[in-house]
Amino acid sequence: MNVSVSIIILVLAISVDAAKDLVCQEIQIHDYPCESYEVLTEDGYVVTLHRIPPRNLTYARELKPFILMHGLIGSAADFILSGKQRSLGCMLHEKGYDVWLPNARGTTYSKRHMHFDSSSESFWNFTWHEIGYYDLPATIDFITNKTGHNKLHYVAHSQGSTIFLVMLSERPEYNEKIVSASLLAPVAFLANLESPPLRLMASESEKIETLLNHLGLHELFPSTALNQLGGHLFCGKGAPTQNLCILVTYLSVGFSDYEMDRSLFPKIFETTPAGISRKQFQHFGQLINSGKYHSTRFISF
Ligand SMILES: *[C@@H]1O[C@H](CO)[C@@H](O)[C@H](O)[C@H]1NC(C)=O
Ligand SMILES: *[C@@H]1O[C@H](CO)[C@@H](O)[C@H](O)[C@H]1NC(C)=O
Ligand SMILES: *[C@@H]1O[C@H](CO)[C@@H](O)[C@H](O)[C@H]1NC(C)=O
Repeated sequence: MNVSVSIIILVLAISVDAAKDLVCQEIQIHDYPCESYEVLTEDGYVVTLHRIPPRNLTYARELKPFILMHGLIGSAADFILSGKQRSLGCMLHEKGYDVWLPNARGTTYSKRHMHFDSSSESFWNFTWHEIGYYDLPATIDFITNKTGHNKLHYVAHSQGSTIFLVMLSERPEYNEKIVSASLLAPVAFLANLESPPLRLMASESEKIETLLNHLGLHELFPSTALNQLGGHLFCGKGAPTQNLCILVTYLSVGFSDYEMDRSLFPKIFETTPAGISRKQFQHFGQLINSGKYHSTRFISF
């Protein structure tokens, strides 16, 4: 068997793997229970909500549940990947909390709609505004109903904070359902963004838009077998190209070698990027260009 045939077989094998629930798999490695629910939003999206249910239900009645919301191109996996001692999802579970991990519409485990196929233009007709306006309230309603708690803690990374601010301002009744909010690397005003590739993309957004239209691309950065394979081959421990992966990461999200655990790269690439709509990207681009924080109602796509 020649090399290219074996690579093709390997890619096919990995893409079968990708259909598995990697989030639950990662949670169950630690012998924790894992549950997943499908939540229907008012505008017809079916989003997957992962959960690490509490160890002790009696004790959990005294503790408010936690929502851990991922950022742009991320998924529920982000809060558990670094394992037992270091990931917030695992640590909160160890402390007895009920841990809920949403997956925003359009990401690997939330690619269903009541009427639209996920390959259709209509499916991808949303920005992070809709994630904040529809997905998050539906998720909170589901959790409060399921657990009997009427308030919960919210922790978010990056875009997870942007959508939280959308929800609180557009649906102010949800303010009273939040007992605490921790916004990590929060994103609202982007006038001072430094990332060179993102700045470039924002300034060339019209050209990029024309190109994407031409290509008929509505989804960006989906999780594929190829990037998973690439993550293992090129970014794994001992790979001569690992520094290149690190450089690409730093250029896009900022430099901080101190906090980066390089051994996590292959694991991160198994679930990241998890896919976004191109309008989500465009909407952030508009914030970079305008320096303001606004919904898309004032903008024509
Ligand atoms: C569960 O939590 C309750 C209340 O804190 C405690 O009294 C009980 O011993 C715990 N049960 C187990 C099995 O740990
Ligand atoms: C996208 O949504 C807008 C407003 O909700 C609607 O006017 C438009 O027809 C939609 N486009 C597609 C392709 O579904
Ligand atoms: C709450 O849960 C019950 C029982 O599972 C269900 O019938 C009801 O529709 C739920 N309500 C909301 C607002 O989700």
